[in-house]
Amino acid sequence: MTPSPKLLCRNVWKLYGAKADDYLSQTPHPDLEGIRNAGLIPAVRDVNIAIRDGEIFVIMGLSGSGKSTLVRCMSRLIEPTAGEIFLDGQDLLKASEKELIQIRRHKMGMVFQHFALLPHLTALQNVAFPLTIQGLSKSDAESRAGEVIELVGLKGRERYFPRQLSGGQQQRVGIARSLAVEPELWFLDEPFSALDPLIRREMQDEFLRLQGLLKKTIVFITHDFDEAIRLADRIAIMKDGAIIQVATPEDLVLHPASDYVQEFTRHVPRDKVVSVATVMDAGAKGTGPGIAASARISEVAAQVVAPTPRLPWSMTPAGLSGRSTLRR
Ligand SMILES: Nc1ncnc2c1ncn2[C@@H]1O[C@H](COP(=O)(O)OP(=O)(O)OP(=O)(O)O)[C@@H](O)[C@H]1O
Ligand SMILES: [Mg+2]
Repeated sequence: MTPSPKLLCRNVWKLYGAKADDYLSQTPHPDLEGIRNAGLIPAVRDVNIAIRDGEIFVIMGLSGSGKSTLVRCMSRLIEPTAGEIFLDGQDLLKASEKELIQIRRHKMGMVFQHFALLPHLTALQNVAFPLTIQGLSKSDAESRAGEVIELVGLKGRERYFPRQLSGGQQQRVGIARSLAVEPELWFLDEPFSALDPLIRREMQDEFLRLQGLLKKTIVFITHDFDEAIRLADRIAIMKDGAIIQVATPEDLVLHPASDYVQEFTRHVPRDKVVSVATVMDAGAKGTGPGIAASARISEVAAQVVAPTPRLPWSMTPAGLSGRSTLRR
């Protein structure tokens, strides 16, 4: 039996414009052209997704494809025009305003696309802020904030004001702030997009390290395919408000559901997404060290190119094969 999802979106729509609700109730399955002809903006169209507990679920798509709107609908910061959203089986759209505030404070963490720190508060005070809103005393909040600041690698900078921190450090404070409340479900909307490539990579490593420790359920928006394939368990591709495909990075590249997805993934280096299990036969008896079936080709390529001791690899019509043992 598959476990019930952490977050479930069922037939979620968000149309902007006058009388969008009326339009959707009269026309329950409108197409893109119909929506546009009615003078409405199709931000999210009939989205159905089930996000599993503990996974990193990445949403990708061109600018304006509806990523931020969808994620804001998931936390009901934006009211969907239609549909159902369940968190741990609870129907969020039926929750009262009071219940929602509690859910957002205790279960959800959010890092927004253009989030801002409070400029007159230090790094420590910024991180402690949501905890005091939760009702913690100032000293408890600051002691917990200190722990999270250390977790994101900013120990020693607790008393700095945002203007005294670099962009990357400010980003870490923002991440610490959303983590401090120990959300079960963490929404991150392009959290690293303002960073230069080197710091961005560092932040991705940091993020993966944190996730290894904390095992949150994460919805992560990015424009950047490299970032998506590094982080994602699964990727959803959005276009004009609709989800075109949800798949592992490897499946997206190897089995694109449409020409659009194929075009979208055209420049992704295959060796970074294709796993060893896809190109090697499992269970072969071998002399070399084992290779994890889930490893990406790029991760083990050095062993193939310069093995020590030399491994008995060979190419078969089906692809790369070898007598090295394949670990599942
Ligand atoms: N408050 C609003 N009123 C009207 N239209 C809106 C509103 N917010 C978003 N939209 C429209 O909804 C569509 C989806 O916007 P959204 O911000 O979700 O896109 P996105 O995929 O997050 O884009 P980006 O990658 O640029 O952040 C866009 O066409 C946008 O113009
Ligand atoms: Mg956005």
